[in-house]
Amino acid sequence: MGQIQNLFPKFYYHGHVERHDELKQVLLSESTSAKLSQPKEWNCSVTSSFETDTNREDFSWDLFFECIKDNVLEMHNQLHGQMFSEVVLSEAWLNVYSRGDSQEVHTHVGGADSTFSCAYFVQYNKDKDAQFLFYDPNQEKHLGNYSKHYSTVNTWFPDVQEGDIIIFPSNYLYPHQVKEVTRGERYTFVSWGF
Ligand SMILES: [Fe+2]
Repeated sequence: MGQIQNLFPKFYYHGHVERHDELKQVLLSESTSAKLSQPKEWNCSVTSSFETDTNREDFSWDLFFECIKDNVLEMHNQLHGQMFSEVVLSEAWLNVYSRGDSQEVHTHVGGADSTFSCAYFVQYNKDKDAQFLFYDPNQEKHLGNYSKHYSTVNTWFPDVQEGDIIIFPSNYLYPHQVKEVTRGERYTFVSWGF
């Protein structure tokens, strides 16, 4: 007998930031005095430090990168990355989602010239709304009437807890979204590329 083999499977990294409690305290404290606004080009409702002129000074991005570096290196090693590759933070921003807020389906193509992007869940209650999800842009699964005969998956909701970090390639094959916050829970996370 035999078994199904995966062919060219995609991946993303899902980990937990060990220094989450410390990092959460710093970032949330800084977010109360930071300049946050609705990014003009985003077709959604969210306040963010994405395009503010004080983003680099408003948040301790050096501390942020120190705290998540172990996760980045863990992923790098699991991918058997080049030993001498340099991991550099290219840009980072913080989003704050309040009730009614969401983020549209998007990719990070056209942003910073980064290899990977991430979502770090600074403050998140997994039993409330505002889930993060990936879409599969590959429609090959529907060819040849395959999806009429077998179940297929187009969306994927990582089982995220507060303090978790999701890292994925910044290319167009990883469209993602944040669903609407409907239960009044504030939800904050950081995105960045490197
Ligand atoms: Fe994103």
